[in-house]
Amino acid sequence: MPGCVALENMKRWVKMIRFIGGLCLVTLLGIAYVSYLCHNSLCLAPERFSLSPRYSVSSTSSSSRSDILSLPASTGKLMGGLTSTVNIESVAFEEALDMGFDITDRDVIVFLHVQKTGGTTFGRHLVRDLNLENPCNCPRKRKRCDCFRPNTINEQWLFSRYSTGWKCGLHADWTELTDCVEGALDEYEGSSRKRRYFFITVLRDPIHRYLSEFRHVQRGATWKSARHWCGGQEFTSLPHCYKGSNWTGVELDEFMNCSYNLAHNRQTRMLADLTLAGCYTGYNTTADQLERDRILLQSAKQNLASMAYFGLTEEQAMSQYIFERTFHLEFANPFDQANATLSAQAIAELTTVQIERVRQLNSLDKELLEFARQLLQERFQLLKREDPHFRQNWLRMIHPHKSERSDGNFLV
Ligand SMILES: *[C@@H]1O[C@H](CO)[C@@H](O)[C@H](O)[C@H]1NC(C)=O
Ligand SMILES: *[C@@H]1O[C@H](CO)[C@@H](O)[C@H](O)[C@H]1NC(C)=O
Ligand SMILES: *[C@@H]1O[C@H](CO)[C@@H](O)[C@H](O)[C@H]1NC(C)=O
Ligand SMILES: *[C@@H]1O[C@H](CO)[C@@H](O)[C@H](O)[C@H]1NC(C)=O
Repeated sequence: MPGCVALENMKRWVKMIRFIGGLCLVTLLGIAYVSYLCHNSLCLAPERFSLSPRYSVSSTSSSSRSDILSLPASTGKLMGGLTSTVNIESVAFEEALDMGFDITDRDVIVFLHVQKTGGTTFGRHLVRDLNLENPCNCPRKRKRCDCFRPNTINEQWLFSRYSTGWKCGLHADWTELTDCVEGALDEYEGSSRKRRYFFITVLRDPIHRYLSEFRHVQRGATWKSARHWCGGQEFTSLPHCYKGSNWTGVELDEFMNCSYNLAHNRQTRMLADLTLAGCYTGYNTTADQLERDRILLQSAKQNLASMAYFGLTEEQAMSQYIFERTFHLEFANPFDQANATLSAQAIAELTTVQIERVRQLNSLDKELLEFARQLLQERFQLLKREDPHFRQNWLRMIHPHKSERSDGNFLV
């Protein structure tokens, strides 16, 4: 029966076509999935499925500072043992000097804002005060500004509280920022790309900073919404030093008595790669803690030196000068040097026992700041030597209104 045979044939064809169609669909889905995971020819699949992805920063600078920064063997082993799987490209000071900051391309400044270092003032200078062809757009009624690259509608060149907001968490630290910044910008811009990151920060005398944080907490600050993201997890249940919703009215002795107070050595902790030292847990014995301290301090120094820029609260003019020369950008208004007399008065009110205790609790930060002061001096001297108009430029920092008629009497 020919009709029957034709029907059989047709059924077979339909089956075949369905089968081929199915294959095509699977292939297409496969291609879509692979290209989703492997944008920019860097396949991300392994990290997506690993339980605790570890991100690390690759610095493309020739490591001319390796003499200062070479890590002791045990730390080296620790770092080598934790294999990094995703790299973001970060630019160190030396390389920033060589190549400059290209606001039109793929360069992003990332501001690591440590509490009570004067970072709020500095952050405002960044969004409101830079002499740019396309300044940040700061609408009147909004707290934040849009700092978009020229000729783009949503590509931020500045990652900070007053531009992007706390996209990587409230006062995100080095560990959080390096892990999160690329993804956060990808999400904001709605597409993924490789950028070059210029990390910057401001550090402050540890005693002054600690007392300033103490007074802030005494007035009710908690920063309890900070994420404390580290090594692929969020440490939301870190113990609080206070009962109830905040620590309003706390006295200094009580503040210092809390052994897990995050104010202690805050600058070192926030600059270090915490994944090298067990994030926030697992260091119970004194020996463990000493080892952790050593690793954190070493890591913080290394990360600081690998940033494109840092400033010191106590050295506003020098900090501004170094910023301007590093990024080839100028501020319209000079950085104010806050009156240190007030901090000195606050310290004078403490007993010698209290001052000694504050020092002890911030001994890592003290060492970090000594390192930072020396590095700042070195950078300043280097830039000064290479600046044919140093005198004019420097006068603009310290005597903003006299820069045009510098009479040459001022010696630095
Ligand atoms: C701090 O806690 C007290 C009660 O413990 C509360 O009355 C006060 O509103 C809180 N302050 C802030 C800033 O949350
Ligand atoms: C701080 O700790 C010391 C020793 O543990 C104790 O004697 C002192 O009373 C504590 N001070 C406060 C204000 O909690
Ligand atoms: C440290 O203490 C925590 C909780 O107190 C415990 O879970 C952990 O196992 C301890 N770690 C070590 C290495 O002893
Ligand atoms: C700093 O403040 C003190 C006390 O308020 C004041 O006497 C002093 O003149 C100030 N110094 C400067 C440089 O403004």
